[in-house]
Amino acid sequence: MKANIKEIHFENQFKVIQLCDTHLDGKTFELSLDEIDAMLKIIKPDLAVFTGDNVVLDLELDVYDVINALFLKHNVKWLLLLGNHDAEFTSTSRKEIIEKCSSLSHCVTANSENKGRYGDTIIRLFSNKQLVAEIVGFDSGDYQKVGFCKKYASILDEQVDWYKKNTISMAKFVYFHIPQKEFLDAFKNGKKEQYIHGLIREHMLPSGRKKPFVSPVSAGFKRSSFFNAANDGSLKAIFVGHDHLNDANILYKGVHLVYGQKTCRAGYNCVERGFSDNMGTTLLTINCDGSFEISPIEYGNLVLGEYE
Ligand SMILES: [Fe+2]
Repeated sequence: MKANIKEIHFENQFKVIQLCDTHLDGKTFELSLDEIDAMLKIIKPDLAVFTGDNVVLDLELDVYDVINALFLKHNVKWLLLLGNHDAEFTSTSRKEIIEKCSSLSHCVTANSENKGRYGDTIIRLFSNKQLVAEIVGFDSGDYQKVGFCKKYASILDEQVDWYKKNTISMAKFVYFHIPQKEFLDAFKNGKKEQYIHGLIREHMLPSGRKKPFVSPVSAGFKRSSFFNAANDGSLKAIFVGHDHLNDANILYKGVHLVYGQKTCRAGYNCVERGFSDNMGTTLLTINCDGSFEISPIEYGNLVLGEYE
């Protein structure tokens, strides 16, 4: 078994929550961890996936020990993936963050490197000794230079090759940080009836008017080969973050393209921008026959007991 391929065995249902753009920093760290603690306690997931821009600003590597202790308390596995900000304002590198997290007891992120991308991981899910599904996490990078401009990065061809060679199930669920061009295609040009839930608000003012020159989707600049290469019927859903005000799910060419609910209150969120609060998590439930359900959970409803 290659080091970047993990196995988890479950019985009837496997629950994954997406911890999306948590932006943990020194000022809000305790409050944010309390919010994650409540989610773990009430939802009781099997796995939590941090989809990037997880820890920012003034926190250093030992903060990941504190995060692991929370998951140890609930006996829940966590997968940490990198966003564009994770090593941007700290003295730690992306490589060091992945080395640190992969050494922790409940973190399943692989200590992997592929052309400067760190932590790409495949988790094979088995029920009754049968392979049911795979969770795949990518490092979608941070920035790429285009002339004199700094643009958002894209999934690399080398990562696509690794995915094609190593994923084998008929139900693949892929998580990364930066939406790729297909999100722009789907959410900017898609037909309304393809929407399943959520809103795209990144380019909107609270009044409902559109902001001039602002894209609804901050996609990776170059079109990645990933979507077309992976979309062979086995790719069921892609979950991203990055655009905090977007929390939608659309069915595009047979694949659910999902913006997770922004998790925790640090970093810009809906309330700061004058919108109603969408803070929470996005739950993926995989059944032992490979069927699945994707549902947003707002934190306010969760703590009021409206989640069952
Ligand atoms: Fe981001």
